[in-house]
Amino acid sequence: MRSPHETLREEHDHIRWLFERFDETEGIEERKQIAKEILIAFEAHTALEEELLYPALRDVGHDTFALECGQEEHRAAQMQGRELSLMEPGDDDYAAKLRVFRDIVERHFASEEYGILAGAAAMDREWMEVNGKRMEERRETLRYDAAQNVRGGVAGQAQKVMEQGRESFSP
Ligand SMILES: [Fe+2]
Ligand SMILES: [Fe+2]
Repeated sequence: MRSPHETLREEHDHIRWLFERFDETEGIEERKQIAKEILIAFEAHTALEEELLYPALRDVGHDTFALECGQEEHRAAQMQGRELSLMEPGDDDYAAKLRVFRDIVERHFASEEYGILAGAAAMDREWMEVNGKRMEERRETLRYDAAQNVRGGVAGQAQKVMEQGRESFSP
């Protein structure tokens, strides 16, 4: 079984790789798919950390301020990410919003790897086994929920546009 810091570090690398792929891709539809994959992966990753890793580290006396900062960084990135999920890669401001989202995410990953994940890597074997198992059990469900939420955001926006359209056509 992988320990929590290994699993989460791999997820960071996967999301970094998805951002690279986005940059290398030109088609709007493909970009849209990759952007959606980034948002789902980030939401699921954040949920795993906030539900399991952060509380497990808080319980063993990890620097509370660092954990609070991590959560604030999650909020900042999620705000950008959720706005992005309502946009299309060809829209005005999309490139700028994606760039800022990526900057926040990459800075957050770097600070987490030096602080919070390094703290998790220093824990004893029992802690790693208990929390590694919990993560494995929750990972798929959180990913499923994140996928539903990201798609729900897009669908919700489409619904709003349709309603606005109906209003503007009504006599
Ligand atoms: Fe995080
Ligand atoms: Fe993380």
